[in-house]
Amino acid sequence: MDRVTIRAQDEDLVEVPVITGTEGEQALGIAHLRKATGLVTLDPGYGNTAEASSAITFINGEDGILRYRGYPVDQLVEHSSFLEVCFLLDQGELPSPCRLTEFEQEIRGNASLPEGLMTLLEAIPASTHPMQKLAAVVAVMGSYYPGAGGSAGPEGGPAESTILLAKLPVLAAWSYRSGTDGVYIAPRSDLGYASNFLNMMFAPQDGGFEAPEAHIRALEALLLLHADHGQNLSTSAVRLVGSSRAELFSAISAGILALSGPLHGGANQRVVEMLEEILAAGGDTRSFIERAKDRSDPFRLMGFGHRVYKNYDPRAELIKQHAKDLLRERGNPLLETALRLETEALEDEFFIQRGIYPNVDFYSGIIYRAIGFPSKMFTVLFALGRLPGWLAQWREMIDDPYSRIKRPRSIYLGFPRRDFVPIEER
Ligand code: SDX
Repeated sequence: MDRVTIRAQDEDLVEVPVITGTEGEQALGIAHLRKATGLVTLDPGYGNTAEASSAITFINGEDGILRYRGYPVDQLVEHSSFLEVCFLLDQGELPSPCRLTEFEQEIRGNASLPEGLMTLLEAIPASTHPMQKLAAVVAVMGSYYPGAGGSAGPEGGPAESTILLAKLPVLAAWSYRSGTDGVYIAPRSDLGYASNFLNMMFAPQDGGFEAPEAHIRALEALLLLHADHGQNLSTSAVRLVGSSRAELFSAISAGILALSGPLHGGANQRVVEMLEEILAAGGDTRSFIERAKDRSDPFRLMGFGHRVYKNYDPRAELIKQHAKDLLRERGNPLLETALRLETEALEDEFFIQRGIYPNVDFYSGIIYRAIGFPSKMFTVLFALGRLPGWLAQWREMIDDPYSRIKRPRSIYLGFPRRDFVPIEER
C-alpha cells in the first residue's frame, strides 16, 4: 500500500502517500492534509503520530525489539563499549580500531572543566537536585566554548558534542561531590569512561580507590542500554528546542530537564523509593499492586509500563540479568522484592491486558544503589547514558535539509469571540 484515499460522506477528500519504514512500519504522509482538506489531526501524547523519520534506532514495541543503527542491543551490550556506541549512534557505523582509539583519546583529552563552571556548580544550593544543577550549568557551557558551535568544531577546536560527551560525567560527579564532601577528583587519562566516572564519584581525596570490575561492567552496560530510544520525551525536547536553531547546549539542557520527570527518566529513582516503601511495609507487594490498579489512586507501579513496549522492554531483561549477576550471591532485599513484584504483576489480568511490563527503569536503580550511588544520582546516570542519543538525534535533525521548526497545532475549545468588559461593569 503506497497511497491512501481519505473520504468523508462518500466523497474523496484527499489521497495521501503511505511511507513504509525499513521494517515495514507504515505512516500516512499528512504534510499537505490541511491545505487539501482544511483538516488537521488531533493526537494528545502523540500515541499515533510519528514526528520524524530517523535512521538511528529501531524499536518494535510488540515484539520487544531494540536496535541501534541496526545492531541488536543485546549484541552491543555483550561485545561493544559505551564510547563505541556513542560513535556508532552519531556516525552510523562501528568505528575501525584506530578511529575508536582516536575517538576515546578525543573524549579523554577534553574532559577537564573550566574553573568557572566548577564555581558555578558550587554556587547552586546543595539541596538542588543534581538534574537541575546539570541543566543549569549545561545551558551556559556555550559561553566557555564560543564558536564551538554546530556539529563540526572550528579548526583545532572540539565540536560541542565532543565537549558534552567529555565533560558531562565530570560535571555530574562534581554536581554530587560539591554538595557532599566537596572533594574534586579530576578525570584520569588512564581510565575508561565508566571507571573514570566511578573514580570521580567515589575516590577519596588521598586516592587509593579502584572501582570493582563488576561495577565497571555493570555501569558500562547500563550506560549503553540507555544510549538512545527513538523519539522519547527528552529526545523530542532536544529536537524541539534544536529545531529553532538554539545552541546545542540549550537543547541538551532542555533534554536533561525533560528527562528528570518521574514518568520518564526520574522513574529509576522512584522505583527504588517504592521498593523501600514495600520493604518498610513488611514486603507487602500485593497492596502496592492493588493501589496501582485502582483508577481513583494516582499511584503507578514505577518502572512498569511503556508507551511503545507492550511486551517486555528488552533493556529491562538485560539489566535484570546484570542485577542478578551482581547481587544474587549476596542476597539483596531490593532485588528480591523487585523480582517478586514483577512475578505478581505479570500474573495479574490488569497488567496483562494493558501490556504493562517492567521497563528500563525497573531494575537499573537497584544496580546503581548496589554500586553505591545515592538515589538522587540515578536519573543523572540516565542522562549520561542518553546523551549520545540526544546528540545523534539532534545532528540527524540539523543535517536534514527538510527539517522545519516544530510547531504543533491545537483545536480551540474556548469561548467564541466576545467584547471586553470594563472593570466597573464586572
Ligand atoms: C522511560 O518513551 C520512551 O522511550 C521512554 C524510555 C526511554 O528510554 O526514553 O523508555 C524511558 O521513560 C520509561 C518509563 C518510565 N516511567 C515509569 O516507569 C512510570 C510508570 N509508568 C507509567 O506512568 C506509564 O506506563 C508511562 C508513563 C511509562 C506510559 O504512559 P502511557 O503510554 O501514557 O500509558 P497510559 O497511561 O496510556 O497507560 C495505559 C493504561 C492506563 O490504564 P487505563 O486508563 O487503560 O485503565 O495502563 C495503565 C494506565 O493507567 N498504566 C499503569 C501503569 N502504566 C500504565 N497502571 C499502573 N502502573 C503503571 N506503571
